[in-house]
Amino acid sequence: FSLRNFNTFGLESTASFFAEVRSVEELTEILRDPVWKQTPKFILGGGSNVLFTQNVNALVIHPAMKGVDKIKEDEDHIWLKVGAGESWHGFVMHCVEHNYGGVENLSLIPGTVGAAPMQNIGAYGVEIKDVVEAVETVSIDEGQKRIFSNKECEFGYRESIFKKALKNQFVVTGVTFVLNKKPVINVGYGDVQKTLAEMNVSNPTIADVSQAIITIRRSKLPDPAQIGNAGSFFKNPEIASDQYNNLKKLYPEMPGYTVSETMVKVPAGWLIEQAGWKGYRQGSIGVHQKQALVLVNYGGGNGNEIRELAGTIQDSVETKYGIRLSPEVNFI
Ligand code: EPU
Repeated sequence: FSLRNFNTFGLESTASFFAEVRSVEELTEILRDPVWKQTPKFILGGGSNVLFTQNVNALVIHPAMKGVDKIKEDEDHIWLKVGAGESWHGFVMHCVEHNYGGVENLSLIPGTVGAAPMQNIGAYGVEIKDVVEAVETVSIDEGQKRIFSNKECEFGYRESIFKKALKNQFVVTGVTFVLNKKPVINVGYGDVQKTLAEMNVSNPTIADVSQAIITIRRSKLPDPAQIGNAGSFFKNPEIASDQYNNLKKLYPEMPGYTVSETMVKVPAGWLIEQAGWKGYRQGSIGVHQKQALVLVNYGGGNGNEIRELAGTIQDSVETKYGIRLSPEVNFI
């Protein structure tokens, strides 16, 4: 079964078996079936954060549970349970239309709702952890349901327990979000304010914020439908303030955001651009022209070429700045 249309890099990879599951019942049935018990399993949502470097010798399970259901509401908040197979951006648009605040800054992020908690997706000052009430899952081994509270997910910057201690152990089947019926606008991120000003909006609604973010993303991030990519390929590294201050003496232009008293986050895109990689192209693959943090497949590229380029970029940035970038994308 070809996974080419199931990863936003558009890479060719073959799965030994493939199952799209449309309900928790279908999922538990397959997980408990003795026929499949010994077969390795691989869970694939929207495929927007994976790099296939080989075929997948496993039963690939694609969660396709649908639905946006109201759980409860009070004067200020509404709780919505959303199926893992819903498109993330489709859900954001649903919230914007109903004026439920909290996810508008996460407009246009590719992928599914079920994949979103895995790496605590984030953009423009908001992370999904700010709005997750609970994550519903089924264990891969036993086919048992388990609900994780927000705290139990151990969310961090592009991290969760599902990428760490419990890696490859649970399938996310649905997520419950708590959204704000009296939205609080979050436009602290420089670019957003600038874009709203260009739109001549002075008192933004969440629909305006969403529109501004869609505009920004379209202007610098390639559309996976046109050019294969998985968004940011690396995380923004956090380095010790001392190291940052030393680097700043050598490179006064180096941007940095204080994350704690001792740590500073440096934009990986800046490091990669300064190391000379922005717009670099090698056959069918390369580094995006408008955002150096995004590696791209122009069509026909293969995952190993991208992995090798990523390694070369890591070495080059490390040689120049003494900072080792770590990938955000999962290598399969
Ligand atoms: N920069 C450059 N050159 C580049 C790219 C960036 O110099 O080619 C510098 C600029 O100084 C710029 C700064 O980096 O001001 C930040 O760039 P940008 O606002 O584009 O954000 P980012 O740090 O590169 C992060 C997330 C994105 C998210 C944006 C907006 C990570 C790994 N990436 O990117 O998330 O959309 O912030 O909040 O944290 C993703 O995870 O796939 C993703 C796209």
